[in-house]
Amino acid sequence: MPSPTVVHDLDQAYLTIMQSRAQGTKWGLVPTMGALHDGHLSLVQAARETCDAVAVTIFVNPTQFGPGEDLDRYPRTWEADLAALEQHQVDLVFAPTIESMYPPGCTTRVRPSDVAADLEGRFRPDHFEGVATIVLKLFQVLPAEHAFFGQKDYQQCLVVRDMVRDLNLPIHLSFRPTVREADGLALSSRNRYLSDVDRQRALGLSRALAAAAARAHQGERDPQRLEALATQVLEDAGVDRIDYVALRDADTLVPLKELADRAVMLIAAHVGATRLIDNRVISVVASEAASQG
Ligand code: PAJ
Repeated sequence: MPSPTVVHDLDQAYLTIMQSRAQGTKWGLVPTMGALHDGHLSLVQAARETCDAVAVTIFVNPTQFGPGEDLDRYPRTWEADLAALEQHQVDLVFAPTIESMYPPGCTTRVRPSDVAADLEGRFRPDHFEGVATIVLKLFQVLPAEHAFFGQKDYQQCLVVRDMVRDLNLPIHLSFRPTVREADGLALSSRNRYLSDVDRQRALGLSRALAAAAARAHQGERDPQRLEALATQVLEDAGVDRIDYVALRDADTLVPLKELADRAVMLIAAHVGATRLIDNRVISVVASEAASQG
C-alpha cells in the first residue's frame, strides 16, 4: 500500500494540491487534530468516495484552546495516525508546526458568525474564533474542492458553513453523521482520558439525547420539558457538571418556543476531568409523516 506523502511545509502543500488540480484531480480535505479514531476515518472514507484524492491535516491548533484547557495534554498519536491514514489510502498528510502556521506577528483572526455566540461560545469564549481562523488557513494552504466535517461538533459545522458563505470561499462542504460506539458513546479523541467508571457515566450524554428524542417522537413539544428530561438522565448517570442542555433550531441554534420541524439538542458536560459534547437532530415532522404513512 503506498504511504501518504507527509508534508510539513506550507508552500509544498499548496503546490502539491495546485499542480494536481491543474491535471484535473479533485481533492477532498479532512481537517483534524490527530489522535484519530473511526469518526475521523469515516470522514476520510466519505472524502475517498466523493473525490479523486484525499488530504488529511493533523494540527493541534493552539488558538482554539482557552487558558486552562487541555492543549498540553491533548493526545498525540502520530505513528498510529499515520498507519491508519495509510490503511485508508490517504494521499497527503499535512502536519505543520505551530511556528509555521502562527509565525510571530500573526495576529489576524476570523470573527465567526452569530451562530458561534452561545453554547460552546459561552463556555469557551475564543474557541470558534480559533477554529474559524485555522480552518480558513487550512483551506488556503490546501485549496481542495471539497472539505469534510463531523456533526459530532455540530456548532463547529455551522460556524464553518457560515464562514464559507460569508467570505465567499470556493469550497464545497459535507457534514457527516456522528460515529458512535455500540453502546451510543460518541467517538472522541478525549474519550482516551476516561477511566472505566467515567466512561460508564459518559454514556449519560447519548442516553439523555435518546430519551429526549423518544419523548419528542411521542408528542412532547415543549423544549423546556425535553431539556429537563435530558438533564435528569444526565444527573442519574452521575455526570459531574452540566454546562448546557439546549434544544435549538437546527440551522440557526436560536432557542425554540415549541419543537417544530428540525431541531437539535446539544449537550456539554464534565465527567471527571474530561469535558464531553454530544448532540442529536430531532426531526418531528419527518417522524409524524412516517407515523401517518
Ligand atoms: P477534531 O476534534 O480532531 O475533529 C476532526 C473532525 O472529525 C471534525 O470535523 C469532527 O467533527 C470530526 N469528528 C470527531 N469525532 C467524530 C465522530 N465521533 N463522528 C464523526 N466525526 C467526528 O474538530 C476539530 O478536530 C478541530 O476543531 C478542527 C476542525 C480540525 C480545527 O482545528
